[in-house]
Amino acid sequence: MKISAIKGVKDILPDEIARVQQLEETAHRMFERFGYSEIRIPIFEYTGLFARGIGATTDIVEKEMYTFEDRDGKKLTLRPEGTASVVRAYIEHQMYRHRPVTKLYYLGPMFRHERPQAGRFRQFYQIGLEALGTSSSALDVEVLALLTWTLQEVNATEIQLELNSLGDAACRPDYRKALQSFLKDRLNKLCEECQRRYETNPLRILDCKKEGCRAITATAPSPLDHLCPDCLAHFQQVKSGLNRLKIPFVINERLVRGLDYYTRTAFEVTTTKLGAQNAIAAGGRYDGLVEELGGPPTPGIGFAMGVERITSLMRPVEPRKPDLFFALLGEEAARQMLPLIMQLQREGLKIEMDYSGGSLKKQMSLSDKLVARYTLIIGDNELKSGKSILRNMSTKEQQELDLPTLSQTLKSLVKP
Ligand code: HAM
Repeated sequence: MKISAIKGVKDILPDEIARVQQLEETAHRMFERFGYSEIRIPIFEYTGLFARGIGATTDIVEKEMYTFEDRDGKKLTLRPEGTASVVRAYIEHQMYRHRPVTKLYYLGPMFRHERPQAGRFRQFYQIGLEALGTSSSALDVEVLALLTWTLQEVNATEIQLELNSLGDAACRPDYRKALQSFLKDRLNKLCEECQRRYETNPLRILDCKKEGCRAITATAPSPLDHLCPDCLAHFQQVKSGLNRLKIPFVINERLVRGLDYYTRTAFEVTTTKLGAQNAIAAGGRYDGLVEELGGPPTPGIGFAMGVERITSLMRPVEPRKPDLFFALLGEEAARQMLPLIMQLQREGLKIEMDYSGGSLKKQMSLSDKLVARYTLIIGDNELKSGKSILRNMSTKEQQELDLPTLSQTLKSLVKP
């Protein structure tokens, strides 16, 4: 019986991996420059971490987590995101003791049982970062700039940074009330899901994609009109900081995010190129999360980029071509040449060959297919005469190379 991959879970094949690696390398390089250190967080955690961190009434926690009991009866969950784990590690290792601001980044797979569709997977990859320790708007600006510039580095085009402020513990309850009282008389016109959200998580109603709900919330009060003076000042500072850096953004007052830990700044980077799953990165400030998870009151902010969505916007990255193809004709040639081939590979040349010992014609066509720069031909005749033939695959020029000095000659002729 043929077993295929699980629905919504895909292989990343070598053709695509070059873009993934380019994105990862860009993130490593950019994030390190801004003072972030990599952290490797576990793939699974106690379920309670996500239930408390992300919020019990969010879609992720209610419907999307891969939760199971292990053999000891412990309730565990495959991580649906990285922020809760980073904050748990931050508290567990008392990182707040070392530096006033701790900057961490991570990359790896996340798991959500969502309905699979283009750009939406059940195992997907994120590259994210978290900065903990200050509520200064300068950090919001830095994080948003770093996200924008990282996306620019990989040439992700036609993207837009959308920004909102969700207020804090001082002003959010008032906004929640104002929104509920606006929706109260319109409740029966909302979709079933939003009717349920009305009590548990009314802000999420603003985010509903259904036409009927959107029409109703079009005139709903905006969170920005209910910000307390501190949140308003913070938001103004973030906007003017971005303007000073000439980082383009638009305000989206409906942007509420699907995770409950956010306070103040919330953002998404969207693209017009990917249809319904148009968010390629998202994040925000979470000034209450560390305390919620048992740590000292510590503000924080971060984002996560969706790797599959970003790489689908990137131009294809050409994999490295072989420097040299060895066309080995006969067992003796293979036996004598293999140590030399491996030595050259260790020293930096990318070398390919045909292990099946096919005809010269077959081997030359494989060399062509792999787009090797040079092909070296050695068979019994060459072993006898002490000379091999080196062919430049683009100019088709051939030259004879003496076997005793082959290693040296190849190193000087075929530089990586
Ligand atoms: P999120 O918005 O849930 O935020 O996910 C961030 C990004 O991950 C999304 O914008 C999207 O590109 C990608 N993504 C999410 N779900 C899927 C999926 N099913 N398939 C493919 N890509 C997906 C977070 O996860 C927060 N932890 C971000 C954050 C960090 N906030 C503060 N710090």
